[in-house]
Amino acid sequence: MKSIIDQIFCTDALEGMKQLSSSYIPLVITSPPYFGCRVYGNETLGREENPLSYVENLLLFTEEIKRILSDAGSFYLNIGDIYFGTKGFSRNKGRYARKTDTHYKEHKIVKPDGKYLQYKQLLMIPERVAIGMQLQGWILRNKIIWEKPNPVPSYSPDRRYPVYEYFFHFVKSRKYFFSLEIAKKYNHHRDIIRNGIEPFGSHQASYPLSLIKPFILTTSKENDIVLDPFMGSGTTAVAAIETHRKYLGFEINPVFYDESHKRIENVKNNTSQKLVQTI
Ligand SMILES: C[S@@+](CC[C@H](N)C(=O)[O-])C[C@H]1O[C@@H](n2cnc3c(N)ncnc32)[C@H](O)[C@@H]1O
Repeated sequence: MKSIIDQIFCTDALEGMKQLSSSYIPLVITSPPYFGCRVYGNETLGREENPLSYVENLLLFTEEIKRILSDAGSFYLNIGDIYFGTKGFSRNKGRYARKTDTHYKEHKIVKPDGKYLQYKQLLMIPERVAIGMQLQGWILRNKIIWEKPNPVPSYSPDRRYPVYEYFFHFVKSRKYFFSLEIAKKYNHHRDIIRNGIEPFGSHQASYPLSLIKPFILTTSKENDIVLDPFMGSGTTAVAAIETHRKYLGFEINPVFYDESHKRIENVKNNTSQKLVQTI
């Protein structure tokens, strides 16, 4: 690859990461497609027939991230869970069908097995991925709960409302870059972080810029490269620019790729205009 810094590539992240040198990237922040939730386009991750196959597939990506992450680097993995039998992956007919079912119609139908796969079961997918990563040699430093004061409603009369997702903070070695002082400055020093969702453009699953920037500031230095293998609407890249870091990303869906590209160009133009005004 020629100069790959400050670019997003419209390609599969696993293939893209294979082009990168080992121990090259100081910080990775990402939110992969969750199992059985949204259909973004022609991606395959998240649409497996069985949640355990999803875990296996996602672990192929985390293995590659481990190879390209620098020894003092960090990896923040944002991942949410799902109740078996909700959304479109297990039932798309009958009384549990949701109005949005057409949106999920391309998911395979997963049958209950009466043990792990039972309707209403919380699948513990984030924990399964995290344990798989520990077996790959990762060190889990924090299981951060991102509490949302304004979550997308997920109502059921016989359980409490789900209002959080995880950000797992993984490292490769015991010595890595992290500033608790900076974390305190941004109220990011506790392992429960309350931050509202901030939808962006047509992407239905963007994470908030205001949540991502402090992760970058606490865990990398100026001009470091921040990689997001599942770039979506470009939030990680914008957060990197606004914190004076470099960015690099992959996004398989051409629509989101274009949208993120435009978003980033706007941010770059605004940033350079502000600089001219200051001079
Ligand atoms: C949860 S979204 C990421 C949202 C992003 N954090 C943001 O703030 O906009 C996951 C994204 O991964 C993309 N994706 C799915 N499979 C991929 C793959 N194999 N390689 C690269 N991108 C992929 C999807 O198209 C989707 O935009």
